[in-house]
Amino acid sequence: MPNLLLDDRLFIGASTKPEYLLLKYGNRHGLVTGATGTGKTVTLQGLAEGFSRAGVPVFCADVKGDLSGLAMTGEAKEWITKRVEEIGFEDYKTDQYPTIFWDLFGRQGHPVRTTISEMGPLLLSRILDLNATQEGVLNIAFKYADDNGLLLLDLKDLRALLIEVEANSKTISATYGNVATATIGAVQRALLVLEQQGGENFFGEQALKISDLMRTHTDGRGMISVLMADQLMQSPRLYATFLLWMLSELFEELPEVGDPAKPKLVFFFDEAHLLFDDAPKALVDKVEQVVKLVRSKGVGVYFVTQNPIDIPDNVLSQLSNRVQHALRAYTPRDQKAVRVAAETFRANPSFDTEEAITQLAVGEALVSVLEDKGIPSIVERTFIRPPFSRVGPITPEERKAVMANSPVGIVYDKAEDRESAYEVLTRKARQQAEAEEARRAEEAAAKAPQRPTYEDDNYRGGPPRYREDSGPPKSKPRASNRQTVAEAAMKSAARSMASQLGRAIVRGILGSLSRGR
Ligand SMILES: Nc1ncnc2c1ncn2[C@@H]1O[C@H](COP(=O)(O)OP(=O)(O)OP(=O)(O)O)[C@@H](O)[C@H]1O
Ligand SMILES: [Mg+2]
Repeated sequence: MPNLLLDDRLFIGASTKPEYLLLKYGNRHGLVTGATGTGKTVTLQGLAEGFSRAGVPVFCADVKGDLSGLAMTGEAKEWITKRVEEIGFEDYKTDQYPTIFWDLFGRQGHPVRTTISEMGPLLLSRILDLNATQEGVLNIAFKYADDNGLLLLDLKDLRALLIEVEANSKTISATYGNVATATIGAVQRALLVLEQQGGENFFGEQALKISDLMRTHTDGRGMISVLMADQLMQSPRLYATFLLWMLSELFEELPEVGDPAKPKLVFFFDEAHLLFDDAPKALVDKVEQVVKLVRSKGVGVYFVTQNPIDIPDNVLSQLSNRVQHALRAYTPRDQKAVRVAAETFRANPSFDTEEAITQLAVGEALVSVLEDKGIPSIVERTFIRPPFSRVGPITPEERKAVMANSPVGIVYDKAEDRESAYEVLTRKARQQAEAEEARRAEEAAAKAPQRPTYEDDNYRGGPPRYREDSGPPKSKPRASNRQTVAEAAMKSAARSMASQLGRAIVRGILGSLSRGR
């Protein structure tokens, strides 16, 4: 066949003709499905390569570690040369791709973190597996923090906020709705579980900047961001929510572009069923909305999952570019899945879609993409092209080398040892509380306790506030103040973070921070 690598389209594979995905429809989303071992990852790898080649940055999660091979030049394995011949892929040439490795645990990639404030209450509730009542309380806590411009960086800050809400539960309940102390306790316990799962690694700074997912290499190719997810998959809820947060960040941060000539970014959501497994309807509705709207920001979302019935109908109907590998049809549920999958394709008179789905060989798939005018193409049985890069995982040494050359290491690798507001303010508050203790001891000794006065301008009817430049406040807390030293420290910490922002926080569809923050 002639040159199959064209500028305005990705070569997917060959049926009776070459099958292409048009770049201008790359943001119209997609779906890659198929049973285990049928060739999904290889297909995904090929698509990622194609987008990168076209200058489109790609984000994907590497669930089994095998996508890391993108960073290495391919090897002429037998099945690859055979497939190259089968499809007459004369301009096949092995290659390696500009890759950035990320890892929530910071081991096999640059650490990727966000802040509690950025994640927002909706997604955080999902990570913490809160029930409706607990989620209600977390919402109130965030509302209180947002209204007061309190910026929450990490889990410590969230803990401090909860203590603050608990201490002021009466006034907060009056303004925002009931917060029961027992419920706050339950949220705090959920927080503890997250901490035990290594949660403090994910929340804090340096928070991921979306622009770092949207890089292009100096040679013009799109950088491929690979999030290591093998370890992360042990906490499926965390995995799914974190990816969802990234998607919502893209949506909130990127400007409208309408229908660009090629996508601004392509986001592969592997093991996408995890997103929807026992997710509350409200969340599913919002995911649907984000998927719909992110298209006009130039972001193409490609769901990868074993079975199309794992994806809710309203999301499924938005996925226009489809690669369906073989499905098994042993059980009634299997059979239903095959039927559902078949029904979504525009039939090809030369074969029965349903039958074909169960007969496809490994590396063969039913392909239907958007053609000119945005109409789905007639489904074709397609031999998927082999990747140019290595199929299979990268070695630890190779990974190290790739990471050492990464443009983002310098930003994210160093554990931020800057003193966060929390630490600074906790220390200040502790010193103040200790001074207060000492003062009381003195008073007790003198047996002539003096009533504190509140004339100092630091005192405005609430607990004392600090000003960055004023050193320890001169006003004295109420003698009746029974809070412990630690509590006082926590509370002042949460409260004083307001100075970092100074205005109410606005949240987007999925509760992450909105654009123009
Ligand atoms: N396009 C292809 N052409 C020829 N052989 C292929 C092709 N795609 C996959 N294969 C063969 O099938 C094997 C498994 O493919 P792949 O890892 O993509 O499956 P998978 O569906 O991702 O499996 P799993 O569900 O286990 O992750 C490959 O190692 C390769 O030998
Ligand atoms: Mg796979």
